[in-house]
Amino acid sequence: MSSPHAQPTSSTLWKKLQQLAVSNKQESISDYFLDDANRLDRFSIKLPGLYLDLSKNRVSNEILDALLKLVEGSVLAGRIAAMFEGEIINTTENRAVLHTALRNPASEVVIDNHRIATLVDEQLRKMQQFSDAINAGDWKGITGKSITDIVNIGIGGSDLGPRMVCEALTEFSNPQLTSHFISNVDGAEINSLLAKLNAETTLFIVCSKTFITQETILNAQTALEWLKQRLSIKFPQSSEHFIAVTSNRENALDFGIESKNILTFWDWVGGRYSLWSSIGLSICIAIGFKNFQQFLQGAKTMDDHFQTAKPEKNMPIMLALMGIWYNNFLGAQSAAIIPYCQRLAQLPAYLQQLDMESNGKSANIHGSLAEHSTGPIIWGQTGTNGQHAFFQLLHQGSKLVPVDFIATVIERMGDQFQHKVLLTNMIAQSCSLMSGEPNDDIHKRYPGNKPSNTLLLDELSPHALGMLIALYEHKVFVQGVIWEINSFDQWGVELGKRLTRSLLKNDSGANLDPSTRELLRRIQKDDSS
Ligand code: F6P
Repeated sequence: MSSPHAQPTSSTLWKKLQQLAVSNKQESISDYFLDDANRLDRFSIKLPGLYLDLSKNRVSNEILDALLKLVEGSVLAGRIAAMFEGEIINTTENRAVLHTALRNPASEVVIDNHRIATLVDEQLRKMQQFSDAINAGDWKGITGKSITDIVNIGIGGSDLGPRMVCEALTEFSNPQLTSHFISNVDGAEINSLLAKLNAETTLFIVCSKTFITQETILNAQTALEWLKQRLSIKFPQSSEHFIAVTSNRENALDFGIESKNILTFWDWVGGRYSLWSSIGLSICIAIGFKNFQQFLQGAKTMDDHFQTAKPEKNMPIMLALMGIWYNNFLGAQSAAIIPYCQRLAQLPAYLQQLDMESNGKSANIHGSLAEHSTGPIIWGQTGTNGQHAFFQLLHQGSKLVPVDFIATVIERMGDQFQHKVLLTNMIAQSCSLMSGEPNDDIHKRYPGNKPSNTLLLDELSPHALGMLIALYEHKVFVQGVIWEINSFDQWGVELGKRLTRSLLKNDSGANLDPSTRELLRRIQKDDSS
């Protein structure tokens, strides 16, 4: 398909970066340090509470100069302004992209004659009211007992963010309340949870932007049946045990959730960016409203930094450029997220959706196919666990995998010596990945020159976590702009959903391929013979 728009790959700068990638094969990160005593100054950024070390990258000063030219004088500055100002930058869905307004009470953006800061504040007040009542024990179940268990039912963006943040901020959680998360349509998940819960003291929060998502609706129905069997609730009138969070109020009402128990958000909040909205209710309940405000404030701090810092000292932009270097010029297919913090165990899964649903696309904003590689495969798990599983490949495998190491300096929940061991492991890994070690025995040789970023949070506080998440949101956005893709739609998820629906309607799949037909026959007839 030919496009009237020049592809990024045709620019002189892109070609220069390709040439630099050829010579880069002969260079080593360790030598960059020897060549430039000030490397760490240039390749690190410090913000209050957060330090980013980019120096262990296969990026020389010359390469960084060229990468920075990708953003300087590009459309990026205009795109950033357009996003924050509420322009319709999600063009395939005709929507503004305003998750940043959810954390900015002073936002002046007006959509459909509504000042959105006012709408956001209304929902925040409601979240505060719900959270305060539940935390104070004043929100009672139908038999008059206080709530002890919160079950968030949702999937994708209506699950991953709240799940990740609730676990990460355990230190700030009310010990009288336990948060649970149900996402999969696999009924075994919800059944095994329900078996442990007391209906009298359980509150379900059904989170779904669309309120049509199959998994969420089925799980919510299972939860409702379970409640009905145990309590004499008159649904929909009696909703002590059900809250809905959705931008589709009508569907939540149809489901039977009482109007006063419906929190809302708007189409200008993408699902994977929705944890800052009322979708974050389970976070707000777990850590309390004040801490939730700190979480929002942390993200706002990153928003301000993103909008104002010059590119070479701008954390999201620099992280994005490192990723582009590996993805587009050194041929990396994936990027690993390795938090050295067990409470951040869900961060890789959260970032998978954020990054892969945003930038896992081939069509560009001009309506043709991008000629360059776009979003990488994001994967990872916590250190030190990963060290005993896949670090072999990072050190000696044939794949180039840039790593983001993430850790917190201060630890209040664990033993201090163990924390020192944890962090020392991380530093030893980033250092040895870069330095390598020669050996006459090829099996015991460490080639080194393996790149990484290190992010150090002073502490795992709501504020710092807010900064960290917003950092990755903006990194993904910057990459989408450079790759000329719309990071805010997700058409790729629709086809499979549609086919599932059709096959569930007694469609025998007669028009499908033999493999699919046979698999269907086997599950439908429960006959694997
Ligand atoms: O299928 C993908 C998706 O649409 C995600 O983008 C979204 O976060 C998730 O499903 C859940 O959608 P909803 O909040 O509408 O239930």
